[in-house]
Amino acid sequence: MPAPDTPILDAPRRITNAWSILPGWLPVPGMGALPVNSFLLKGREPVLVDTGLAALGDRFIETLAGEVDLEDLKWIWLSHMDADHVGNLSRVLELAPNARVVTNFLGMGKMNLAGLDVSRVHLLSPGDVFEAGGHRLIPVRPPYYDAPETIGFFDEGERVFFAADSFGALLPTTAGDIEDIEDNVLRDGLVGWSSIDAPWLAHMDQSALGGMLAALDRADPDFVLSGHLPLARNGIARLTRHVANAYGRGTSSAIDPLAVEQVMAQLG
Ligand SMILES: [Fe+2]
Ligand SMILES: [Fe+2]
Repeated sequence: MPAPDTPILDAPRRITNAWSILPGWLPVPGMGALPVNSFLLKGREPVLVDTGLAALGDRFIETLAGEVDLEDLKWIWLSHMDADHVGNLSRVLELAPNARVVTNFLGMGKMNLAGLDVSRVHLLSPGDVFEAGGHRLIPVRPPYYDAPETIGFFDEGERVFFAADSFGALLPTTAGDIEDIEDNVLRDGLVGWSSIDAPWLAHMDQSALGGMLAALDRADPDFVLSGHLPLARNGIARLTRHVANAYGRGTSSAIDPLAVEQVMAQLG
């Protein structure tokens, strides 16, 4: 489908037994469109990951309510505090009285600065594993990002990696899965978006970046969920290859306890 003229939210799609995607698209004039996705983990303790675009407020709430009883929503995982990830946070908090916000210290500070209610924050400290309804979400700092509070996760049981802003791509047309995107289009989309969203990537230590990408390749998630990419089923190697070719190669050993290499090595 061609890029839309206004923000849209497509129908939710099942990813695994537990995970669904709420796929949104934001037109970027002259450049195509950027996916702006939220994700939902269903089960005993439903988790919403990010809250979409404010411009899609009614549609977002209606779509979410079609997937989960808002009274039952237990957690709202915020990847970071950018407007395209917290667009409907206040409304969801209002309509989902039992939901608590999962974020880290800086995320909570930014919520406070934005005048948002922090009384329902569940604070993630470095090294914490987040458990919800039998799912273990292991926090991990994605290889690149545009805000320092950014926190992704690896769902061990479902073999799902949530990359936040990492691996986002500006695309000329909409798509449901990266398998439907030609390789050069995907490459240009990844490089185009990362050069806008994380320009520092071009100056990053090449061996450190290579080490993170290699660790993700070894972890080999069944699904990569990015806030800004269509679904990537078994697609990690394709994504890391394009990023490595654009920005760096090599490997390194990391000392950051949240580093991809460290976390993935513990997954066994
Ligand atoms: Fe962002
Ligand atoms: Fe974003």
